[in-house]
Amino acid sequence: MPKAELHLHIDGAISPQMMFDLAEKNSVILPYKTVEEVEAAYEFSDLQSFLDLYYQGASVLQTEQDFYDLTWDYCLHCQADNILHTEISFDPQTHTERGIAFDTVISGTLRALKDAEQKFGLSYKLMLNFLRHLSEESAQQTLQSALPWAEQITSIGLDSSELDHPPRKFERVFAKARAEGFKIVAHAGEEGPPDYIWQAIQLLKVDRIDHGVRADEDPALVEYLIQHQIPLTVCPLSNVRLCVYENLQQHNIFKMLGQNIRVTVNSDDPTYFGGYLNDNFFALADAFPMTQLQAIQLAHNSFTASFISDQQKQFFL
Ligand code: ADE
Ligand code: ZN
Repeated sequence: MPKAELHLHIDGAISPQMMFDLAEKNSVILPYKTVEEVEAAYEFSDLQSFLDLYYQGASVLQTEQDFYDLTWDYCLHCQADNILHTEISFDPQTHTERGIAFDTVISGTLRALKDAEQKFGLSYKLMLNFLRHLSEESAQQTLQSALPWAEQITSIGLDSSELDHPPRKFERVFAKARAEGFKIVAHAGEEGPPDYIWQAIQLLKVDRIDHGVRADEDPALVEYLIQHQIPLTVCPLSNVRLCVYENLQQHNIFKMLGQNIRVTVNSDDPTYFGGYLNDNFFALADAFPMTQLQAIQLAHNSFTASFISDQQKQFFL
């Protein structure tokens, strides 16, 4: 099925083998001796337990070519999974905080995306995420570093540790991002309460919500999402691996789809959560009696919820 992916952290697409190879090349010491040991460590109890490993894993990325190789590897998975359009996220602060230049990160990432566009027609947009466990000032500095690249960046998002870092902490920097013409996205309602989704909508004025599954707990919010057709980029395997749901059968994605909320399926951090986009669809098909119509609706939503132009949407749809 042709589809788009709208919620993908490029640092979350590093394979254990690549992590190992880059650690050796760049003389980074990892607390694992084998690829199997890396895989065995991927047992998470919540978002933070994952993020601790995820930031450690990202520390092997150092050169422009490393960011190219990481992104190129993900682009090949897009081709394999029939993803025609992808909106990938990158978190510059993960790298600038440890002395890697912003330009190194973005130029390697973009070079791979442009190659994929040229070689097999992959359509893409780039999203820059602020790390919400860091300060507003750090986000402001990151936005400044991004401005020379504004033509290449479509949207600004917010990720990392959600609990205790509400969207309101970043109200001013998102106002600036909006004034610069960026689309706005935020992780909200992954682990955090429905109020964080309201804050993302009312204070950050988001065009789209990453996750948003806890919206379900607030009927007025559900009504608002339906009325305004604010898309949710849902990540089923991620939610189970981070213990948001005990198992996939308990996931609310089809409930929300049935309510006419614009939900989409995404992989989030595929190498950490046990699957790329098709794996997420297959897991849903195993856990639910997913009909062809529901699968098509999810794929259709992935294009309508994307930031491509209306003209390009017509082409895909
Ligand atoms: N960064 C990478 N994956 C994330 C997730 N699922 N939630 C918040 N921040 C993230
Ligand atoms: Zn995410």
